[in-house]
Amino acid sequence: MSNTSQQGLSETAAEQAAKLLRQKGVGLPDATIILGSGLGKFTNAIQNPVVVPYSEISGFPETGVAGHDGALYFGSVGERKILAWSGRFHHYEGHPFDRTVLPVRVAAALGCNVLVVTNAAGGINSRFRVGDLMLIDDIISLPVRVSPHTRKFRHRYANDSLVHEIIQLASREGIAVTRGTYLFSKGPTYETKSEVRAFRIMGADAVGMSTAAELNEAIHLQMACLGISLITNLATGISKEKLDHSEIAEAASLREKDLMGLITSILSDPETPIYKPEYRFR
Ligand code: HPA
Repeated sequence: MSNTSQQGLSETAAEQAAKLLRQKGVGLPDATIILGSGLGKFTNAIQNPVVVPYSEISGFPETGVAGHDGALYFGSVGERKILAWSGRFHHYEGHPFDRTVLPVRVAAALGCNVLVVTNAAGGINSRFRVGDLMLIDDIISLPVRVSPHTRKFRHRYANDSLVHEIIQLASREGIAVTRGTYLFSKGPTYETKSEVRAFRIMGADAVGMSTAAELNEAIHLQMACLGISLITNLATGISKEKLDHSEIAEAASLREKDLMGLITSILSDPETPIYKPEYRFR
């Protein structure tokens, strides 16, 4: 029985999408990964994928941001079966949080209980440089409520032990990573410099417009989960340069190889900790 049906959500949009995907050849994923802006290339690492455009899944809208192709890929990475989402639904595009978390719910409805989320984010920590890979060890999503549901949380995202183990995995692979707190900012515009100054005082290391709701939903569905931010720019006021979306693609290509290597190891290395039962939020 899948997590969602255990929680009485059968016949939801997610269950229906999962049913359709099974008919199209999508099987049981060991893990699912949501690929952030400019990071969709990971789909090339998936062997013999079943590819389903979102437009073929009822309840899924088109994605509207450059660098997102709007399709899911299911296939093998090493010994593992991976379901990758290239293109996500942002709240700032007008999607309710219920829709931004649909990929997580669909993966759970397929029986998956491990989620990795990647995103592009602005660096707030003054030690960060463009191209840094930050493992998200905690989240700030005040004052906006990002949870689509009203049920009480038993857990919040606080992922120190898993992040610690992933840092060791990355170091064995020779991939430099850092860690920090991700702050969800609603967007769609980048922050003001006063906001960034406030976020820094609050304890944020990076800021972005996605991910928090997806991770919260994964926790709610008792999955193991990990967020990874690629620092594509320094947040407003941290850098003197003017910000625009094209830097995301530039920073993505700067660390593409490392990020792809990191994700591949996290999902399929024989030593990966992500599948350890103790990392599932229960
Ligand atoms: N702020 C918010 N979201 C972002 C940023 C930023 O500076 N960079 C990439 N996504």
